[in-house]
Amino acid sequence: MTWLITGGAGYIGAHVVRAMTEAGEEAVVYDDLSTGVADRVPDGVPLVQGSTLDGDLLRRTLAGHGVTGVVHLAAKKQVGESVDRPLHYYRENVEGLRVLLEAVTAAGVPSFVFSSSAAVYGTPDTDLVTEETPCVPMSPYGETKLAGEWLVRAAGRATGLSTASLRYFNVAGARSPELADTGVTNLVPMVFEKLTENAAPRVFGDDYDTPDGTCVRDYIHVLDLAEAHVAAARVLRSSPGRDLTLNIGRGEGVSVREMIDQINAATGHDLPPTVAPRRPGDPACVVASADRAAAELGWKAKYDVQDMITSAWAGWVRQHPEAARDGA
Ligand code: WQD
Repeated sequence: MTWLITGGAGYIGAHVVRAMTEAGEEAVVYDDLSTGVADRVPDGVPLVQGSTLDGDLLRRTLAGHGVTGVVHLAAKKQVGESVDRPLHYYRENVEGLRVLLEAVTAAGVPSFVFSSSAAVYGTPDTDLVTEETPCVPMSPYGETKLAGEWLVRAAGRATGLSTASLRYFNVAGARSPELADTGVTNLVPMVFEKLTENAAPRVFGDDYDTPDGTCVRDYIHVLDLAEAHVAAARVLRSSPGRDLTLNIGRGEGVSVREMIDQINAATGHDLPPTVAPRRPGDPACVVASADRAAAELGWKAKYDVQDMITSAWAGWVRQHPEAARDGA
């Protein structure tokens, strides 16, 4: 079994590649390096630089490496940017997926794991989100992930391709400092950035209908997320024609204020947050029921928020050595 891992030079991709190879799977990375970094691809794993919009290169790569499974992670993933550039997001995330699926089904590749997102739910009006919760995405990014699930499911039903769409909740943490997320577009690195400037972190709204008024999210360690991909890949390989859609979260909600308090404590800071205006489109609470992933994959998250924060901080300090002087 050789798995083509698109986006394998990215933050999540680099963790998935390592989890797959350590599980004994052969892997080849396909990445356009627009945000991915070649150095993240481990020695011994081939890297093909290319876009999923390039059908010819995809067909040559699938044939040339004897690919028998695909893990598709390559996508644009910034919610705010998707609002400004919706057509770019639809082209990259939906048309890119369509071209990939065309090459995959033409080559008779039997298994396909798709990186979806909790963003497909939009602002769910339930404390615990199951895979049956209505999907009403609030951003073009979330729309492209929902449309992607439709394409994957339709291709599977038409051709027998065995598929799993994994809906990631809020990913954080790192396997090692050099594999940490270098983006500063999510809560944890944005708080790190403020603490490094010796400035107060910001809470985007504290008047939500939640226990402490701040938004509640389900944070999942990237190591747990990577293991979920290994589990999904193995299930698809052993059972053709599957059509799985699974939440990948811990099933435990943590509020923004709780996260900031834990980040302060774990990094040796004491900078209470200031309250800033709400961020448009933020749902009050998005927490996964991960029961179906446990039942279908035998997968359950092992790491906690403390593991995510401390491992992410080690990566942050590697990139920002000045941060270590002030805190822990
Ligand atoms: C979390 C909470 C903010 C920064 C998005 C995508 C989702 C996934 C993860 C790709 C929110 C609050 C943040 C800050 C704050 N990405 N916040 N102060 O928006 O839940 O999810 O990223 O799949 O699809 O939608 O994540 O980390 O941006 O924000 O108060 O300085 O932290 O308002 O409530 P989000 P986030």
